[in-house]
Amino acid sequence: SDAEAAVRIVPVAELHLHIEGTLQPELILELAARNGITLPYSGLEELRGLYEFTDLQSFLDLYYANMAVLQTERDFADMTRAYLARAAAAGVRHAEIMMDPQAHLTRGVSLETCVNGVASALATSQEDFGMSTLLIAAFLRDQSEESALEVLDGLLAMNAPIAAIGLDSAEVGNPPAKFERLFAKAREAGLRLTAHAGEEGPPSYIIEALDILEVERIDHGIRCMEDPDLVERLVADRIPLTVCPLSNVRLRAVDTLADHPLPAMLAAGLNVSVNSDDPAYFGGYVDDNFSQLKAVFDLSDFDRSRLAANSIHSSFASEERKAELL
Ligand code: ADE
Ligand code: ZN
Repeated sequence: SDAEAAVRIVPVAELHLHIEGTLQPELILELAARNGITLPYSGLEELRGLYEFTDLQSFLDLYYANMAVLQTERDFADMTRAYLARAAAAGVRHAEIMMDPQAHLTRGVSLETCVNGVASALATSQEDFGMSTLLIAAFLRDQSEESALEVLDGLLAMNAPIAAIGLDSAEVGNPPAKFERLFAKAREAGLRLTAHAGEEGPPSYIIEALDILEVERIDHGIRCMEDPDLVERLVADRIPLTVCPLSNVRLRAVDTLADHPLPAMLAAGLNVSVNSDDPAYFGGYVDDNFSQLKAVFDLSDFDRSRLAANSIHSSFASEERKAELL
């Protein structure tokens, strides 16, 4: 319809996206064949049957297992270009893309291979897809801080084109405070800072990420709604929360989309945006997230243009680029 067409062209920035979570089942099988890798399932049908999750960890198990097919720079570049093409069609004009270097290093894939592969596709995102992009190195919070510090050193030594660091993987039991030195070092290196907090973890993890890691942005953050004082602080300080509605449904952080706190978060005055997290796993890209929200909530409840403007204001893009996007 015209209304759908009109909302589709509202330019949006995607701020919470794991590039490894864009690996579609078809591409997994294609890369497995190309690289001579035997997968523990018979084909597309059986693989698709595995995308049924009970919590964050049940998803992470499949997400890490499927990365086995990523072997060469070309594999990382192909995965990244496929995301850029799909995101551009969804109305994304600026994307801040996380990758998990440690998940590749532990499989014997070098930092150069994974970083240069993704970065080579991002380098031409403006020409190829009209999208500005930047890269975020995310660290696995279920691994040690020593491991993270070593990988950050490697990234800095190779002068990797990263704009920021993030913190992801299994949240509960791995509080932000565990990574105080990592974030201090990244800050000193001039990198921007974000961290997953309050997805499955308690509101206190959001407070730790702000107070101890001094992050500028919180990924997810939905559990802030359990702590009114924290909500008040997040509103007062305009802290961006990169919310991922379909992810929260599929990982059972909320029962159904109708139960999602996004409308309440907007009503509270929080600086929220809509993002896809791991779109190949959670049933959709940014446009799918918006259209499913629209099907469940009143348009006034989730005000798409405000969400889009929040995403641009909350990005790590230059002020010049933000002005172009707004
Ligand atoms: N890694 C990829 N997606 C993630 C998520 N939603 N939460 C934590 N770690 C992740
Ligand atoms: Zn995430």
